[in-house]
Amino acid sequence: MNLVVLGVQWGDEGKGKIIDFLAEGAGAVVRYQGGNNAGHTVVIAGRKFVLHLIPSGILHKGKACIIGNGVVIDPKYLLEEIAYLRKNGINIKNYLTISENASVILPYHKLLDTLSETKSKKGKIGTTSRGIGPAYVDKVGRLGIRMVDLLNKKVLAEKLENNLALKNFIITRYYGEKAYSKEQLLKEYLGYGRSLKKYIKNTFPVLFQQVKGEKRVLFEGAQGTMLDIDFGTYPYVTSSNATAGGASTGTGVGPGAIDRVIGVTKAYTTRVGEGPFPTELTDSTGEFLRKQGNEFGATTGRPRRCGWFDAVVSKYSAMVNGLTGLAITKLDVLTGIKEIKICVAYKVGGKTYKDFPADMEKLAKAKPVYKIMKGWSEDITGVKKYSGLPKNTRLYIKELEKLTGVKAVILSVGPDRSQTFIQGKIWEK
Ligand code: IMP
Repeated sequence: MNLVVLGVQWGDEGKGKIIDFLAEGAGAVVRYQGGNNAGHTVVIAGRKFVLHLIPSGILHKGKACIIGNGVVIDPKYLLEEIAYLRKNGINIKNYLTISENASVILPYHKLLDTLSETKSKKGKIGTTSRGIGPAYVDKVGRLGIRMVDLLNKKVLAEKLENNLALKNFIITRYYGEKAYSKEQLLKEYLGYGRSLKKYIKNTFPVLFQQVKGEKRVLFEGAQGTMLDIDFGTYPYVTSSNATAGGASTGTGVGPGAIDRVIGVTKAYTTRVGEGPFPTELTDSTGEFLRKQGNEFGATTGRPRRCGWFDAVVSKYSAMVNGLTGLAITKLDVLTGIKEIKICVAYKVGGKTYKDFPADMEKLAKAKPVYKIMKGWSEDITGVKKYSGLPKNTRLYIKELEKLTGVKAVILSVGPDRSQTFIQGKIWEK
């Protein structure tokens, strides 16, 4: 039984927590796309961990954690995360494996990410400045450096030479910044290669064995469907496939081996960075959600934009991911709101749209059409099962299920691992 867990909205849905919760029953946890732009927060018995690159499954003893070929890796950052986990008593050795084929983020990617945001004419995306986009550009442009190259001086030197010829031209001539030294980068990145050598492996046979041996593999999505390079609110997206298909291309496990796809969604919506967000609330309710939900980015600390649940988005997400179940998080944040709104359609220039439009001009002008639900005032943070939830919370969940056409299989009522409960099949056949 193999399971993909991914974000339904614009990321930050609480995937880290759900993955950590499900990792208990898994044999292996695999990251398939993105890089350290992700921020997965997990709270275990009041202790908070924030992971950006290593699969959240590492917080469970004995789980194989794999960083797949679809991921872009900043090796300097990865070593820092390994050190952070070690310092906190988490054992990584024997558990972490990194795909030889994963792409490497270099300092010029980070610089180009920042410069393209601050100095180029194309306008801001609001990226995390981690070099994600430029690293994927090199991968697709067939210039990229892969993790395996960090173990080969000759290849790394050649690739750096080729890359720097063009990169340094752009950096110095277009942006007027300082050029990078090949020798210095070569020395630094060979050093990272030496430190990470024990983790860099051919992950395909490892995963194939897991899948064939009927072990349970959990595919950990990063970001969310609306940030997907193909299906998201382009160009205000990240540069990878955060949707279910990415789980196959980013790991080498064929789609036939994937049994279920669980979409994690907040009970409302948030977004960081620029781009259209039809249900955004800029009033006191938005402020309430930000405060109650502690909606500040785990990676950049930026305040998240907050708004009502958008069923047009989640219906679209259910379709493009083939969702088999929903995990609804942060239900407790809505406690105390008298009337909760759900967006069921968009109005653009007098026309009503029930399906998500590809035309971003249209989306930017979209006015949400709301269905109003009654709120609840009871504290739900200690509830352990569905039947223990107030009637109005249950009605709200039922409505989300009806509108998305997907059953809620996991519900979460607080940040701790213990504040999560299952109400459907996860690993069982
Ligand atoms: P990039 O991935 O750093 O290139 O950023 C592109 C867009 O994706 C920006 O709007 C970021 O705020 C957003 N983004 C990237 N990673 C995450 C994440 O893990 N959660 C939420 N938004 C993200």
